[in-house]
Amino acid sequence: MKAAIRYEYCTPDLLEIARAPLPGLGDDEILVKVKATTVNRTDCGVLTGKPWAIRLFIGLFEPVRPVTGTDFAGIVVDKGKNVDQFEIGDHAYGFFDEGLSSHAEYVAVSTKKAVLKKPENVTFEQAAASLEGAHYAFYFLKDLKLNAGDRILINGGTGAIGNATLQFLKHFKVRVTVTCETEFVEVLKSQGAERVIDYQKEDFTTINEQFDYVFDAVGKSTFKKCKPLLKSKGIYISSELGENWQNPIFALLSPFMAGKKVKFALPYSIKRSMKFIHELVLNGEFVPLIDRRYRFEDIEKAYYYVLSGQKKGNVIITFD
Ligand SMILES: NC(=O)c1ccc[n+]([C@@H]2O[C@H](COP(=O)([O-])OP(=O)(O)OC[C@H]3O[C@@H](n4cnc5c(N)ncnc54)[C@H](OP(=O)(O)O)[C@@H]3O)[C@@H](O)[C@H]2O)c1
Repeated sequence: MKAAIRYEYCTPDLLEIARAPLPGLGDDEILVKVKATTVNRTDCGVLTGKPWAIRLFIGLFEPVRPVTGTDFAGIVVDKGKNVDQFEIGDHAYGFFDEGLSSHAEYVAVSTKKAVLKKPENVTFEQAAASLEGAHYAFYFLKDLKLNAGDRILINGGTGAIGNATLQFLKHFKVRVTVTCETEFVEVLKSQGAERVIDYQKEDFTTINEQFDYVFDAVGKSTFKKCKPLLKSKGIYISSELGENWQNPIFALLSPFMAGKKVKFALPYSIKRSMKFIHELVLNGEFVPLIDRRYRFEDIEKAYYYVLSGQKKGNVIITFD
């Protein structure tokens, strides 16, 4: 099969499309012919080994898995002897943030991981795109006590995380104000945003409104700048550590802080987030935003585009 391979942490130009043997199949595993996968921000970390902390999970000095890729949607073509939840021919999808080696024509995945039958109401591309950003979005929202009518401001509504968050909040009937560039204002309104701030025309930190939550989904602001936007017991959330890792530090200090607080999420069980995502996809309540599609042979270009920080939602890799 063809696979995207590297033996050291590297930049996208050093990732090679090469021939590799089909992955061996364990008793608890399914072998999937990959129909669609994505290049996402987690993949960029897995490829480059940056930030360094990621190496604690994927290999300290060199990547444990030479083949990149963290998500997939495809067709089950073989299964191990202990697998009873999938049949050959089933459509499956899954995600693992430490790597699945899914940037390849075939992937072997343990059914003990976050892998489910693909909902029939979505394409392979939509299924693959519904996982990475949505997984993090789930954990950023998980411990908030959201009530219908609460107000939240999301900075960065066209990112994979920000866009999934916007759609999840509609499920909770939360009132969302969101930022994005001019071209996407109408798209985000159609996805349920009450108000969209065009960040090319207006600085969201200067608006004269207050929110129960401010979620910086692109990590471009700070608690200090967003504090005036928060109600007296409002909560600031960021998807980034902050320039001096201040966000997790503030979050640790928050139980001792009166008034406005900071929350920093540490995502853990992907099975748990995927269960939630799966239900919303089935109900048609979450339709992932898809940006560009690249042929597998052009995966280097896809990585550079994602690393540019400009992708809108998700970038798809196709094999056909
Ligand atoms: N904490 C965690 O566990 C975790 C996990 C994954 C990712 N992350 C981090 O979370 C962040 C978001 O990830 P993602 O995958 O959602 O990113 P992404 O999809 O790559 O986000 C890019 C999008 O953000 C928009 N954007 C950039 N700057 C903006 C600004 N100042 N205002 C409004 N929109 C802006 C871009 O639009 P324009 O092109 O129009 O600017 C683009 O559509 C990244 O910084 C990533 O490193 C954290």
